[in-house]
Amino acid sequence: MTGVATKLSPPRIAVAIMAAGKGTRLKSQLPKVLHEAGGKPLLEHVIRAAVRVVAAEDVYAIIGYEAGRVRAAMQHTGVNFVLQAEQHGTGHALMVAKDALGGYDHVIVLSGDAPMITPETIGHLRNFHLEEQAAMTLLTADLAEPTGYGRVLRKKAGSAEVQAIVEERAASAAQKKIREINSGFYVFDVRQLCANIGELSTDNPHGEYYLTDMAGVLREARQRVVAWKTANAGEVLGGNTRAELADIDHYMRMAKCRQLMADGVTIYYPATCVIDADVEIAADTVIEPYVQLLGKTRIGTASRVRSYSVIRDSEIGDGVMILPGCVMDEARVGSTAIIGPYSRLRPGSEIGEGAHLGNFVETKKIKMGKGSKANHLTYLGDAEIGAGVNVGAGTITCNYDGVHKHKTVIGDRAFIGSDSTLVAPVSVGNGAYVAAATCVTEDVPDDALAIGRARQVVKEGWAREKKLKK
Ligand code: UD1
Ligand code: MG
Repeated sequence: MTGVATKLSPPRIAVAIMAAGKGTRLKSQLPKVLHEAGGKPLLEHVIRAAVRVVAAEDVYAIIGYEAGRVRAAMQHTGVNFVLQAEQHGTGHALMVAKDALGGYDHVIVLSGDAPMITPETIGHLRNFHLEEQAAMTLLTADLAEPTGYGRVLRKKAGSAEVQAIVEERAASAAQKKIREINSGFYVFDVRQLCANIGELSTDNPHGEYYLTDMAGVLREARQRVVAWKTANAGEVLGGNTRAELADIDHYMRMAKCRQLMADGVTIYYPATCVIDADVEIAADTVIEPYVQLLGKTRIGTASRVRSYSVIRDSEIGDGVMILPGCVMDEARVGSTAIIGPYSRLRPGSEIGEGAHLGNFVETKKIKMGKGSKANHLTYLGDAEIGAGVNVGAGTITCNYDGVHKHKTVIGDRAFIGSDSTLVAPVSVGNGAYVAAATCVTEDVPDDALAIGRARQVVKEGWAREKKLKK
């Protein structure tokens, strides 16, 4: 016993995400990696997977095309950015990142346009690379439709070792028949990568530095290049075209629906629903066809969202009924409330327990108390409405004087007659009544009646006489 522990320190591992390309095939102003699938930019999915394998401070996103925009969109993830000001190919992206990788032993390279990769697969690839003591390890998959991808030439069938990767445009007819494709995910020994990356050339149909050529380059340098094939071919799909983006989006949406269904949510015709990754829904809630639930929306138990509603960043309680065609943004709806059909809840709408909002009712920045109702054709903005209030059809809070917004306060159990206008700032007291068609410009005390409309005149026989004159 020497008493001295000889323990190897664990290898230092970075993740580099190639995200500098324009995405020519998308024919878009927006950089490819900011195109969305499953409600999030492609790059954000990749970053999310990466930061479950290494710390965010060890993740380097290589950005270039519209770098400012990409950086601004991803700043919140806490990863590092490396600028590839001109984009001369995937090999060039890694040349640019060389300095940033100096302090690491290995680098996991991910593609910013392939968002379905999981932390588990990245972890497997890393472990395989370390066990094989390889200079380069690539993730491959067998695809039924391999067109467009680089093909993997193994040293011999069944061998872990790779001879080379051939890009689609350089592939012979025989090579195009190979179904094992290069995923664009790799692990490199940083020392070997940096020592040999200078050997890459632009002698190819695109005139770019291909990172894929590192397989051949490292083999020339008598280094070990191996491949690990994943059985989850779906994880390597890239969003290079709008059609590929649609496929990826569909796959992610279905995965989300399946997860919710496993958790006890009923979803009819899930393929018609658009539910973002961060949405939470409790068991026994029912989602009808053609519903969109977006952003950070949360729905409690035993609620029902009927067809054609679009709900973003909203919180909905238990036993709530959302009738067809509602639009909600940053709203909160208390338990057992009934909303719609065709209600529009804009930001800051807080609808109390058991309240009812009916067709063509628009709300913005309001608090509505327990059991209150506004069932038809109404605008309620910048208002505080008590409990048990009845807001008649066609009521309007006139909250805007052309310059400023003002508040309307309506007390508990007040009754607002149909077609009333409430010119804010104004208040209606507890239990007060506002007669139909009143324009309320002065505060109404508790239990009072406010009536303000032109007195009606009835002219007997007037219509008959008019007809006779004709
Ligand atoms: C690449 C691989 C191909 C593989 C496929 C898997 C090469 C040469 N080919 O092809 O073998 O089957 O991915 O999806 O690598 N990027 C940069 N800087 C650049 C160019 C690209 O950061 O100068 C980024 C892109 O933004 C993208 C990623 O690298 O996120 C891959 O580039 P892309 O042009 O999509 O390569 P593929 O043609 O898909
Ligand atoms: Mg690609």
